[in-house]
Amino acid sequence: MSEPLLSSRRSSSEIDGPEDGLLRREPKRHRKPERHGDWIKIGLGVWAGLATLGVIVVAVVCSGMKPGSAPDASFPPKGKRNVVFMVSDGMGPTSLHMTRSFVQHVKGLPWGETLSLDKNLIGTSRTRSTSSLVTDSAAGATAFSCGLKSYNGAISVLPDGSPCGTVLEAAKLAGYKTGLVVTTRLTDATPACFSAHVNLRSEEDRIAEQQLGDYPLGLMLDLALGGGRCHFLANTTAGSCRADSRDLVAEAQEKGFKYVSDRAGFDSLGKGNHVSLPLLGLFAPTDIPYELDRKSEDYPSLDEMAEVALNALEAATKDSEHGFFLMVEGSRIDHAGHGNDPAAQVHEVLAYDKTFARILKWVESHDAVLVSTSDHETGGLAAARQLHEAYPEYLWYPQVLANASHSSEYLAAQYKEFSGEDEDTFIRKTLIEDGFGILDVADDEVEKIKAHKDNAAWAFADIVSRRAQIGWSTHGHSGVDVNIYGSKGTERLRGNHENTDVGRFLAEYLELDLDKVTAILKQKGVSRTSTGSPEYSWMGRGLEELKANAHDAANFHIDALDSYHGDFKRHVHML
Ligand SMILES: *[C@@H]1O[C@H](CO)[C@@H](O)[C@H](O)[C@H]1NC(C)=O
Ligand SMILES: *[C@@H]1O[C@H](CO)[C@@H](O)[C@H](O)[C@H]1NC(C)=O
Ligand SMILES: [Zn+2]
Repeated sequence: MSEPLLSSRRSSSEIDGPEDGLLRREPKRHRKPERHGDWIKIGLGVWAGLATLGVIVVAVVCSGMKPGSAPDASFPPKGKRNVVFMVSDGMGPTSLHMTRSFVQHVKGLPWGETLSLDKNLIGTSRTRSTSSLVTDSAAGATAFSCGLKSYNGAISVLPDGSPCGTVLEAAKLAGYKTGLVVTTRLTDATPACFSAHVNLRSEEDRIAEQQLGDYPLGLMLDLALGGGRCHFLANTTAGSCRADSRDLVAEAQEKGFKYVSDRAGFDSLGKGNHVSLPLLGLFAPTDIPYELDRKSEDYPSLDEMAEVALNALEAATKDSEHGFFLMVEGSRIDHAGHGNDPAAQVHEVLAYDKTFARILKWVESHDAVLVSTSDHETGGLAAARQLHEAYPEYLWYPQVLANASHSSEYLAAQYKEFSGEDEDTFIRKTLIEDGFGILDVADDEVEKIKAHKDNAAWAFADIVSRRAQIGWSTHGHSGVDVNIYGSKGTERLRGNHENTDVGRFLAEYLELDLDKVTAILKQKGVSRTSTGSPEYSWMGRGLEELKANAHDAANFHIDALDSYHGDFKRHVHML
């Protein structure tokens, strides 16, 4: 198996996964009932309540609206409809500031020049999961796919262990075509949540099987483009990371899939105009390289893949009364966040912004809506950093990011391969000067890199972040609200929403019945153990394993926040 080149000491699925601190410990908050002035408050509350009710009654009577009915009767619209849902994995508000300022700097643009995303901001999304205030991508995407909260690690499975029907599945069953476009593994959490159901996101072999129809609903996907080929290849093949000898690529081809796996194959799709569905395109063993490192002669970009998907799905639904549901993920914004690599991240965000602009343009001339949001923020990114005890300066330096021509992940991989004589010169000149455009690397920074020869990505990234005065609070996720962007027709998502509202909006726009899909999954997918308890064995290893991996199994929760267990002392402090 070829290891993913993720800029961390572990693979992306591990660092982003349930195995790694599933439940963030939270101090217990005891809510003491207030004893003073309660009656005054209740009295005022009743009065305010009655007054509000009066205003509502008047408003309802005047407008002839039923209470609780939609403010605009035109929703959902009638006739043929298409939905493109974009996910900027791990992109928080600071990523927008950083990228916007970076572009203004390198292109010499005035302050008022913004990204396409900025021009289409409509609201924000609250991201907590059932098990933590800090969600992972699996629970985050389950909120979008099922419109329901679940635990960190859940792939469209609820805390009670039952599967929940997804927007993509419901759309397919209703007659729509369906597609997924990503830059990470197709089996990673976000795409998996739309097209599979497993208890643990690490079950990527099983996710791949389900994505190709080997589960109770059968084949639900018409188009899938991205990375993650290794989970589709038999373990007897070079480049496989499957545990068994199933050749899913061959199985897909037998089912009628057109399969492409490289740039030439991608180009043969003629921007999507020469495509027959179903289509499977797997362009990298794991992740497609970062935009900053990607060679366009080797790998398609997110924007190019989105173009193929739009054209192919539009053509395939030309004569249908139903359009399509397409999910497009800028997957690796998150990876640059995990790696604390600001230079890699600005290029990932720019690639996403370009793709957003293309899709928005298409949506505006069709019966369609575009919704774009993030599952969570990654890195605790800050557009400022205090480097010394002295009072900090009010600034950060985009020029440092502009000088970088490679990611820290790429440089770490180069270094790992190095076996020549003059290691110091290789690190200073070939990697840091040529790769980062940084000319003042310090001796202790070189030593830190040498101390992590196996994976020096974090050490490389820190060299850039410090000079740019960009701060990070974690190599994991954070709990901050993330932005929602939308085309015309998504006005219901204005303001601050729960992430599940985003999923429900997608379903309501297409008038999908997710509960019906859930019922089919449960009915067709249930098996009974010898003890008689229902078990969805096709969903893989279960919650018991999650519990076993929790560091305090006795207090393990997937449907409530855990409490503080003295964790402050549990780990050696990071300096
Ligand atoms: C490949 O998969 C088969 C099961 O399909 C298993 O018996 C075998 O041990 C696997 N080989 C390797 C090298 O993992
Ligand atoms: C960027 O690179 C140029 C030339 O390679 C160099 O002169 C300059 O100091 C670098 N800037 C920063 C902020 O490192
Ligand atoms: Zn994520």
